[in-house]
Amino acid sequence: MNSGEMLKDKWTKVIAVTGGAGFIGSNLLLHLVPKYPDYLFVNIDCLTYAANLSSLTGIEGAPNYRFKRLSIGDYLDLERCFEEFPFDVVLHLAAESHVDRSIYGPSDFVETNINGTFNLLELARHRHETGRGIRFIHVSTDEVYGSLGDDGSFFSESSPYRPSSPYSATKAGSDHLVHSYIKTYGLDAIITHSCNNFGPRQFPEKLIPLVINNILNRREIPVYGNGQNIRSWLYVFDHCRALDMVLHNGQKGATYLIGGGNDIRNLDLIQRLCRMVDEKLGISGSERLITFIEDRLGHDYRYALDSSRIRSELGWKPAYEFDQALEFTIQWYLEHQDWLNSCISGEYMKYYDVNYKRKLAES
Ligand code: NAD
Ligand code: DAU
Repeated sequence: MNSGEMLKDKWTKVIAVTGGAGFIGSNLLLHLVPKYPDYLFVNIDCLTYAANLSSLTGIEGAPNYRFKRLSIGDYLDLERCFEEFPFDVVLHLAAESHVDRSIYGPSDFVETNINGTFNLLELARHRHETGRGIRFIHVSTDEVYGSLGDDGSFFSESSPYRPSSPYSATKAGSDHLVHSYIKTYGLDAIITHSCNNFGPRQFPEKLIPLVINNILNRREIPVYGNGQNIRSWLYVFDHCRALDMVLHNGQKGATYLIGGGNDIRNLDLIQRLCRMVDEKLGISGSERLITFIEDRLGHDYRYALDSSRIRSELGWKPAYEFDQALEFTIQWYLEHQDWLNSCISGEYMKYYDVNYKRKLAES
């Protein structure tokens, strides 16, 4: 028996989770690893600036968890990993994920989001074509559908692709590759599109942790444009529960939209966060940190999702109420300021200066 066969014998499923040291990936592993002790989870992550292994301390010693530090952009490394582990499932989350960074430097986005996904698909196709079943779950975003107006409409599974940013264009490109592998090779793949996630362990370049971090550091809170853009928010644990259901019961070839239904204008959300953080800290006046700056280039106005398919087919619905989830999130960041401080090292401040310094000075 070779080592792959031994692993197959020992574990009910062997699952690759790419990007498992990032925000959603780490929350997903913390959800799945203890829940399925008879599955082996292999976290494939090259540890970019957005990764944080300390997010995974809760499971790092678990017998059914392994970590492989490699880039999905490197085909040979990835191939060796697929030879070592007889994957039954790939949960693909690794990506360059921040819209602002994609505006200043799109090339890493093409490399990871398109070429990296292509490498994974090729390895999955080889397994599929040699008769070893493999399920490929591609975690995508609502941003591939572009921007909505004020007409109360929603994106659905059949909405046309209209990405606005280099980030969403590369996610769209990777989705098209997945669609083609489903149609051409019959790969058992599923694409999920979720709206804006928030919760513990999110890198503080994204709006909610950025606001909390800036309040804690008494730094300006930069608001793009007039703050009237609308985002739809989903607590990360609800996203993880949805991915768990898709993994086990999702239909081959399907697309699922995962929306929390918490649609709110950026400025309203930021003001709410200021009040909630102030109340927890016993301070006041954080709203005075709000600073309007030049708009993000290509800024999408509104996203909203019709998630009736995943609700009716798989019985998913969000378990957390928005304000309660915001409160848990704020509490987590207040209790994990070491984690937050470990993110805002030299690289973060360099990015922060490039993205905000001139805009804040001109505001
Ligand atoms: P993140 O930026 O927090 O984490 C990404 C992870 O991928 C990091 O750990 C990073 O090290 C890893 N990674 C990046 N390039 C890699 C490479 N070449 N090889 C291996 N690992 C690499 O991202 P996130 O917010 O957790 O998003 C995860 C996925 O979910 C992404 O595909 C993103 O497009 C999608 N998504 C995110 C949201 C959201 O609101 N955060 C919403 C919808 C979809
Ligand atoms: O919709 C899903 C997407 O949500 C994911 O695919 C992306 O990976 C994720 O980054 C997120 O993209 P957004 O661009 O919507 O998220 P971000 O947190 O960067 O911004 C949310 C909104 O807040 C957006 O309208 C821009 C605004 N914003 C953001 C930042 C960081 C500000 O006004 N000021 C800021 O400093």
